[in-house]
Amino acid sequence: MSAPKPLKIGDITVQKPVIQGGMGVGISLSSLAGAVAKAGGVGIISTAQIGFREPDFKEDPLKANLRAIKKELDKARAAAPDGVIGFNIMVATRQYPLYVKAAVQAGADLIISGAGLPVSLPEYVPAGADGQRRTKIAPIVSSAKSASVICKMWDRKYQTVPDLVVIEGPLAGGHLGFSTEQLSELGADTPDRDKTYRQDLYDEEIRKILQLIRQYEEKYQRKIPVVSAGGIYTHEDVMHQLELGVDGVQVATRFVTTRECDAPDAYKQAYIRAKKEDIVITKSPVGMPGRAIVNPFLEQVKKQRQAPEHCYQCLEHCDRASIPYCITRALVNAAEGDVDHALLFCGSNAYRAERIETVQEVMDALMGAEG
Ligand SMILES: Cc1cc2nc3c(=O)[nH]c(=O)nc-3n(C[C@H](O)[C@H](O)[C@H](O)COP(=O)(O)O)c2cc1C
Repeated sequence: MSAPKPLKIGDITVQKPVIQGGMGVGISLSSLAGAVAKAGGVGIISTAQIGFREPDFKEDPLKANLRAIKKELDKARAAAPDGVIGFNIMVATRQYPLYVKAAVQAGADLIISGAGLPVSLPEYVPAGADGQRRTKIAPIVSSAKSASVICKMWDRKYQTVPDLVVIEGPLAGGHLGFSTEQLSELGADTPDRDKTYRQDLYDEEIRKILQLIRQYEEKYQRKIPVVSAGGIYTHEDVMHQLELGVDGVQVATRFVTTRECDAPDAYKQAYIRAKKEDIVITKSPVGMPGRAIVNPFLEQVKKQRQAPEHCYQCLEHCDRASIPYCITRALVNAAEGDVDHALLFCGSNAYRAERIETVQEVMDALMGAEG
């Protein structure tokens, strides 16, 4: 297998086929995204409560968030004027279309959208007469079934196909597109998942997704690049994915423990301290399983509900009366370094971090260009 090749997303060329995965709240903002873009990959800013540092965030989170979208993109662009920079926007976000439109208007190169199926995304980012979009759009899928639902819908309703597809597997961080039963079948939910994980099963799913995408490439006579994500930590991991036939990878966890990552030092240190058995699957108030580091907060909410004190209008569907805790509060606490009162999202490999690296070091390691 030859060295990784640049990733082409329509008319955009990314020198290194590495997309830094979006991480909310406040973990992937302009500093991390700008540094990754400068190092030749794709920097992705998460729009999840992106305006949490704005003075009016508590009173009007929507206004604060929409304003911060432009601010963060401008800052990342200043760090990497020629880099490729985009946003991760969760479908579950309340007022999702407004976030997408704000990202397009700010001049994003790419929008990656998951945590739900982005079935209407092309409506807010229409293609021009030549079939191209200035801002590329990419759904996140976890199975051939979800990839098929999105492609069928976009084809029928909008006569379009994704500019890029992100496949996110069961070793990823944050919310996962799998049920707890599926995670268990794949052996992705045990403390010893490096031994129990059925990589063969998920590799087969990736091949199925690639086959499906090929049908749409033929129909539209254009290349649809695919990247895979979840548990990719080393050059060997990258090469394994490329051998399956994908065009690139999306990596998040390994970028958390970089100097440039927007997370506070206490958050990065929680990764460095974490042991394999500290990384658990938890059911988040969003109703999806998520992966996080066990801490006093998780222990406490398991025993007793923490009634939300304030609503930050984050999710389209949230039953304030029954949720175990407010996910915005728990994630903002993490972003502010109050790690004992926070939900510490992480990927299955977070325990492997031993020190703070630079983004350039991580990119070199992933590309196999160390030393
Ligand atoms: C701390 C953290 C926060 C994340 N937040 C989001 C998010 O807001 N939206 C999203 O679509 N994915 C989110 N993810 C998933 C990543 O974008 C990425 O696809 C995944 O974690 C890749 O696996 P890896 O972390 O093992 O590299 C998050 C991941 C982490 C580790």
